[in-house]
Amino acid sequence: MSKTQLFDLDGKIAFVSGASRGIGEAIAKLLAQQGAHVIVSSRKLDGCQHVADAIIAAGGKATAVACHIGEMEQISQVFAGIREQFGRLDILVNNAATNPQFCNVLDTDLSAFQKTVDVNIRGYFFMSVEAGKLMRENGGGSIINVASINGISPGIFQGIYSVTKAAVINMTKVFAKECAQFGIRCNALLPGLTDTKFASALVKNEAILNTALQQIPLKRVADPSEMAGAVLYLASDASSYTTGVSLNVDGGFLS
Ligand SMILES: NC(=O)c1ccc[n+]([C@@H]2O[C@H](COP(=O)([O-])OP(=O)(O)OC[C@H]3O[C@@H](n4cnc5c(N)ncnc54)[C@H](OP(=O)(O)O)[C@@H]3O)[C@@H](O)[C@H]2O)c1
Repeated sequence: MSKTQLFDLDGKIAFVSGASRGIGEAIAKLLAQQGAHVIVSSRKLDGCQHVADAIIAAGGKATAVACHIGEMEQISQVFAGIREQFGRLDILVNNAATNPQFCNVLDTDLSAFQKTVDVNIRGYFFMSVEAGKLMRENGGGSIINVASINGISPGIFQGIYSVTKAAVINMTKVFAKECAQFGIRCNALLPGLTDTKFASALVKNEAILNTALQQIPLKRVADPSEMAGAVLYLASDASSYTTGVSLNVDGGFLS
C-alpha cells in the first residue's frame, strides 16, 4: 500500500504573512517541507530572510518578501511582484495580525482601534482579494485565515482585537461562498493560547497563565508547530471538500 499524496504541495506557490516567527514561521516551514515554494513575509525583511534561508538549507524552496499588510500600497506591490515572478498563487495564509492595546474596552484608543482594524480586517480582506484574483486566473487555490478563539469567545482586555477576529471568521464564509465558483476554498484556523512573542504577556504572567490553563482541557499552551498541521490540511487536497469552516486548535478551550 502506498503512502497518501493528499498532503503533497509539490509545485504549489504559497504566501504566508507574519512568517518571520511564531505560528507563521511554523506554517511556512511545514508547507515548504511538503514541497511548496513558500513566500515568507512580514514587515521586516531580515526576519523573513532568516526563515527563508533555514527552509532552503533544509532542501526546500522559499523567497523572503517584506509587506506591511496594514498598508494598501504594499499589498498591491507585493502582488505585482508575485504576478511577475511566479505568475500564480495557490495558497494564501493570512496569519500576520496585531493587538496593540491590552485594556478595558472603555479605554480603547482611536489609534489602536484603527491600527487593529486596518491590519486584521482590511489587511486580511485585500490580501484575499488580490490572491483570489490570481487564483481565479489559474483555476483555483486555498485561502487560510488565522483567526483566534477570541473571535468566538472574546479575550478579557482584548476588545477590538476580538472584534476583528470575529470579522475574520465571517470574512472566511464570505470568500468561501463567493469564490467557490472559481475553485477557491477559504477556511479559518482558530488557535488557542500559543507560546509566541504575541502571547508572551499572557504566557509569561503566572497568574494569567494559571487562570487560562484552568479553561484549557489539555492543561497546557500550544507550541506554534501544533498549528501547522491544521493549516497543511486546509492548504492541501486532503481538504478538497472543505470550505467556509473554522477549525479550532485550542486544546479543547471552546468545547
Ligand atoms: N499566540 C497566540 O496565543 C494566538 C492565539 C490565537 C490567535 N493567534 C493569531 O496567530 C497569528 C500569529 O500570531 P503569533 O502568535 O505567531 O505572533 P508573533 O509570534 O508575534 O508573530 C507575528 C508575525 O506577524 C508579523 N507582523 C506583525 N504585524 C504585521 C503587519 N502589520 N504586517 C505584516 N506582518 C506583520 C511579525 O513580523 P514583523 O514584526 O517583521 O512584521 C511576525 O512575523 C495572529 O493572527 C494571531 O492573532 C495567536
